[in-house]
Amino acid sequence: MASFTLTPLTDHTGAEVVGLDFRQRIDADTRASLNEAFVEHHVLVMRDQRFLPDDFKSAVQLFGELQPHDKEEHHVPGHPDVSYVSNDEFVNGRRIIPGETFHTDHSNHPCPPKATTLFAIELPSSGGDTQYVNMHDAYDDLPESTKQKIDRLKAVHAYLSKYSPRPLGHLSEESRRNLPPSGVHPLVRTHPENGRKALFLNPVRIESIVGMDDADALKLIDELMAHATQKKYEYRHKWRHGDWVLWDNRSVMHQANPDYDMNERRYLYRLMLKGEVPA
Ligand SMILES: [Fe+2]
Repeated sequence: MASFTLTPLTDHTGAEVVGLDFRQRIDADTRASLNEAFVEHHVLVMRDQRFLPDDFKSAVQLFGELQPHDKEEHHVPGHPDVSYVSNDEFVNGRRIIPGETFHTDHSNHPCPPKATTLFAIELPSSGGDTQYVNMHDAYDDLPESTKQKIDRLKAVHAYLSKYSPRPLGHLSEESRRNLPPSGVHPLVRTHPENGRKALFLNPVRIESIVGMDDADALKLIDELMAHATQKKYEYRHKWRHGDWVLWDNRSVMHQANPDYDMNERRYLYRLMLKGEVPA
């Protein structure tokens, strides 16, 4: 087994992996340890990587099977299966910062991705952190009465909810045609690998809760979001060059920050891994 150090970044979320070059072959035992760490810590930060797009794609598959992005036109030139996030997209004259409010990725899918991962190519000189909040701890801390109220509720996740707090980037006609039907997911899901319950929220996509008035549903989602996004549940990642970050969409929500000089470019490779039907 290869030697590396694993250091927790908070007492609840995030761990740093130092000492591995993921362009080299990773043996089965090391791979198993990394996957265990992922399930336990929810966000893994692999330092000091030097990836070309194909290196990144190979390394990510140590953790699962790739899931295509909904916007297939949005990819690294010459690499149709490696997408990116950047700060240089505009819709109707307004700059779009992908992921600007807390969410979980692609929850509009019947089978949303278990993980999303980014590799930093260009970073602003300061700012542009990614924040993560632990949805297991947020669930555990809810009053029993709230748990009972929400344990059996299901939410409808559309591509873009009519109640979304922000717009999404441009979607081509072809990508729009290829969207799956809306996902209908429990508000509380059980992680299939660590066995813990977690809130499964996404105000960008949740359009309704089955059997509830929209006004009541929105109020409930607002209350749960206010609870789940408290600082005590947060790991805030300050990006360094060489960072490869992988997070578990079943355990955390995340958000991007538009708090940097927009004349500077922020550009990261992005991939997702297939998940299972939330239950
Ligand atoms: Fe995201």
